[in-house]
Amino acid sequence: MKKKISNFINKKNKSKIVSLTAYSKNIASILDNFCDLILVGDSLGSVLYNYKSTREVTLNMMIEHSKSVRMGVKKSLMVVDMPYNTYRNSKEALINAKKIMTKTKCDAVKLEGGKKIFKIVKLLVKNKIPVMGHLGVLPQSAKKFKFKGKKISERKKILNEAKLLESAGAFSMVLECVESSLAKIITKNVNIPTIGIGASANCDGQVLVTDDLLSLNPINVRFVKKYSNIRKEIVKAVSNYSEEVRKKTFPSKKHSY
Ligand code: KIV
Repeated sequence: MKKKISNFINKKNKSKIVSLTAYSKNIASILDNFCDLILVGDSLGSVLYNYKSTREVTLNMMIEHSKSVRMGVKKSLMVVDMPYNTYRNSKEALINAKKIMTKTKCDAVKLEGGKKIFKIVKLLVKNKIPVMGHLGVLPQSAKKFKFKGKKISERKKILNEAKLLESAGAFSMVLECVESSLAKIITKNVNIPTIGIGASANCDGQVLVTDDLLSLNPINVRFVKKYSNIRKEIVKAVSNYSEEVRKKTFPSKKHSY
């Protein structure tokens, strides 16, 4: 485990880090060939369950989805989001992080926040639980999803929190919707990889929600590039199937016993 994490950190300043989300085995097994890190993100709350926010996602949901993802991930680093209200204090965080690690066999957990989670990150790391941080827009607590880093005070706060996370022992951090020049400054000022989502090419790596880039999740935000329209492909396949069933051309003898 230590080796996997240090190999990941060593990619900083050498090669760009590729990361995507997965919520289940089949998708995870495809991503595994192309990714350095696969994140079981609590974005599954809105993407799969239509929740208004990630705050409704439970520990149990994260564990069950992660168990499925684990079956598809052989080589990438697998990171699981700790959902809202599962790390309100150090004791709670340690119990729940241990539960996630042992039940899902993931490599690390991800927590949102900076100063607020400093002691928690320190404690988890002391207990050999690798931690990924998450700064910028924090979906578990955000009221508005506006990019971060316009105001000087906000820039200073995020930069300080990035340094704090590193000093607490985090091995990497997600920067979500962080202004480009601030992402550059943070990336230069920490020795651990920064993984951006809507945070420019100045980060050490990138992460996107897989359902977004495949157009499975009908979302339209500036930072999501649609690499495919899988929805169209599914419509084509399902429409052919339904037509053939109704025309009685499926199943043919070839597909029957
Ligand atoms: O929950 C998630 O998918 C995430 C990524 C967007 C970074 O945290």
